Amino acid sequence: MTQNGKQQLTRRRFGQMAVSLGGSAALPGWSRSFALQAQDVAPKVLVGGANSLRAHAEARGLLYGVAVDPALLDVEGLASGETKDRYTLLVLTQADILVAENAMKWASLRPTADKFDFSLADRFMTFAGQTGKRVRGHNLCWHEALPPWFKDVANKDNARQMLEAHIRTVAGRYRGQIHSWDVVNEAVNPADDRLDGLRKSPWLELIGPDYLELAFKVTAEADPQAKLVYNEFGIELDTPEQTVKRGQVLLLVRRLKARGIPIHAVGVQSHLQADGPQPGPGLVKFVQEIARLGLAVYITEMDVNTRNVPGGPDEQDTAVSKVYTDYLGQMLAQPNVPVLLNWGITGATSWLNATNATGNQRKDGSPQRPLPFDDKLKPTPVFLALRAALDAAQPAAAPAAVPASVAPNPAADQPTLPPGPPLAVPTPNVPPQPTPQRLYEPFPVQGSPIPPPSPSGAAY
Ligand code: G3I
Repeated sequence: MTQNGKQQLTRRRFGQMAVSLGGSAALPGWSRSFALQAQDVAPKVLVGGANSLRAHAEARGLLYGVAVDPALLDVEGLASGETKDRYTLLVLTQADILVAENAMKWASLRPTADKFDFSLADRFMTFAGQTGKRVRGHNLCWHEALPPWFKDVANKDNARQMLEAHIRTVAGRYRGQIHSWDVVNEAVNPADDRLDGLRKSPWLELIGPDYLELAFKVTAEADPQAKLVYNEFGIELDTPEQTVKRGQVLLLVRRLKARGIPIHAVGVQSHLQADGPQPGPGLVKFVQEIARLGLAVYITEMDVNTRNVPGGPDEQDTAVSKVYTDYLGQMLAQPNVPVLLNWGITGATSWLNATNATGNQRKDGSPQRPLPFDDKLKPTPVFLALRAALDAAQPAAAPAAVPASVAPNPAADQPTLPPGPPLAVPTPNVPPQPTPQRLYEPFPVQGSPIPPPSPSGAAY
């Protein structure tokens, strides 16, 4: 069957297929039990080992991952080799890099003004350490997810010190273990009508526009190995609103660079819609402009909203698959796009299906299908479309050399393993093919030695 043919498989056919991991004999206990569980249902879509998203990404020099809810991860079962939890096993088999969907936000970490609660964040880091996954930190400075006490306590006299102390404490706690930090999230908002495009967030109002410079500088001091990311939404389309916003993000990144602020990547969140206007040449040009500044672009939160797609699951899957194919076709052709994360892995845990996400509910009451696995944790045609898009990723010729001022630290690309014996993660049996040198990110296939730093300094 052709790649296109695969992408057009309907959900009905998928309904007869089961998740199955390939090569179970070579897997540790927890993976073997998962494979055996699924064996009596046929035909199967093989999603494990060499068939996984992470393996296909690695084969193209890309890093694939997902956002997770640490409370749902069976950390204890994994440690004892007993887990049969399907969510945990999906995360384990599909992703090389993880981000906590909420557990590292202010609202999660700061129950009171003078206390930190790291229980969920630490659980997340333990899971990542056990399984050898890289970790993205999300986020250190945002206008949302601030704790209820914040508005009563923060003022112009103490906000700078509060932001700095928070970053030093959080980024310092996980120093050396984070691949990349979303240092500042969603700071641009054209609707606020400022010349510099900055959002009138509490941070801007209390500290002034240089709160961004402060946040990046302090994070660099607290965790010198982490890549530092400015993360933004609503900049993917060529609509007038998003074109303006994209321009203002570029202005901001140029400002940070001109002031010598340590920043390594722009996160393009990529919360896309299955209907309506789609990303086009404007975003590609933006990615290329970012490359000229010596920065990478990470796709940090991809999902596809199916709220308005008429019809049933088949129609949703067809529409969503097309968005993945078209979007990743454009973005992964850019050599400075080495990292792709989905915002969740299954429809069961997607924020788009959360009970409090009222604006996102479908008229027919059925769940949205924004991700490669559905609300029953089964692979959908989107899984195959995403995997085919990874396979099709062809890095273009590398742009001009990265300026010395943003010389990378290759150590930040190494897997983060805390002390203690890590669990073996099945090394995918990827078909032999040359791993392309993707600009900024020569990620090794797991288990292979980390390559020495390139003298031209490519390791974002
Ligand atoms: O923590 C409470 C919990 O105690 C309570 O039981 C529950 C009942 O509804 O609410 C919980 O908090 C919710 C939290 O998600 C965890 O479920 C918050 O009300 C809710 O606002 C929060 O939503 C998150 C949202 O960010 C705001 O922080 C979403 O899960 C999360 O997917 C979303 O993620 C954002 C990224 O951080 C930035 N980019 C956009 C993306 C999607 O909006």
